[in-house]
Amino acid sequence: MRLSRRITGLTGGESDGWDLFLRARQMIAEGIAVTELTIGEHDTRTRSSILDAMDRSARGGHTGYAMVPGTALLRDTVAARVQERTGQRTTRDNVLITPGGQAALFAAHSAACDPGDTALFVDPYYATYPGTIRGVGALPRAVIARAEDGFQPRAEAIGTEADGAVSLLINTPNNPTGVVYGRETLEGIARVCQDRDLWLISDEVYDTQIWEGAHLSPRALPGMAHRTLVVGSMSKSHAMTGSRCGWIVGPEEAISHLITLATHTTYGVPGFVQDAAVFALGEGRDLEEEIAAPFRRRREMARHILAGQNAVRLSPTQGAMYLMLDVRATGLSGEAFAAALLETHLIAVMPGESFGKAAAGHVRVAMTVADDAFAKALKTLCHFAAQQASSLSGD
Ligand SMILES: Cc1ncc(COP(=O)(O)O)c(C=O)c1O
Repeated sequence: MRLSRRITGLTGGESDGWDLFLRARQMIAEGIAVTELTIGEHDTRTRSSILDAMDRSARGGHTGYAMVPGTALLRDTVAARVQERTGQRTTRDNVLITPGGQAALFAAHSAACDPGDTALFVDPYYATYPGTIRGVGALPRAVIARAEDGFQPRAEAIGTEADGAVSLLINTPNNPTGVVYGRETLEGIARVCQDRDLWLISDEVYDTQIWEGAHLSPRALPGMAHRTLVVGSMSKSHAMTGSRCGWIVGPEEAISHLITLATHTTYGVPGFVQDAAVFALGEGRDLEEEIAAPFRRRREMARHILAGQNAVRLSPTQGAMYLMLDVRATGLSGEAFAAALLETHLIAVMPGESFGKAAAGHVRVAMTVADDAFAKALKTLCHFAAQQASSLSGD
């Protein structure tokens, strides 16, 4: 039977750049001791207090259909959190609960784009972005954020690509670069969105992982709340990746249509998961900071390990659970570097090329293994890079 172009064309016919990840996983399955620094998932599990709340809710009978837009309690809790952090009036009518941030990204693009519309996203990008845009029948168009600019996208670069576009997707704190967009960057983005009448889809799933500076949501900027769809999630902030609980915050009219979309797609999120999310969010910033702490600590460790050598350069790393390392001094592409590191030292990192053109010659390191293993792997990576760089210069 013929399958739709929309579903068969999701990856755009390109390699998705995850070959190395699959190779590492295969080696692990064969019993080879690979240090896995590829994937953005905590090395701790969901807190037992959160699981207790989930259990209490499920055993208390909250196992039937939940309200499609989300429970009133979770929508109110998310609204209050967003209002407190943005200063923008936010009520439950601005909130749709979704099965994770990924479903929110899909829904947000469904709200912003008609089939055939152009949707902008920033390169380097989180792996699913172009496919999510294709999934709603729109055409993805990349805006390059250059390594030389610390991976902060420039307003002019967005303006250059904006002809015929209806939306722009940004992500701060950023996966894969670990960069947090500054006020100047976000004000520039807001200006272009206003001048070119673009929806701004703001993926803020790492908003609690800030190592330097502060997280600024574009929803907080003047004149932006009515054209911004914020994507949030419990996955990273509360180590609840498997619970599939996220949200979209946006203007009431958009949310009311997105509730209709949810009625015809997901039909909501399990009530016991939502009650667990209410409990987790109720623990406030202390729990968020506790969950972010290992990454904050490892990022400090990395800064010390990487200081005093010049084969590997650390890109500005201000947030999220990743380091983006510039390995161009070795003369290798990110792909070749990652492949050689895996084969010779059993350390798996992601080639920058997996995240678009702008991160070529880089590798992304997820800070998601225990401190000792992390430090050891990073030292080995630096040593390997130094060897490559010196063989290049003929030393
Ligand atoms: C930038 C970014 N956005 C969205 C997601 C999706 O997260 P989830 O669907 O688990 O909320 C991820 C997951 O890694 C991510 O890195």
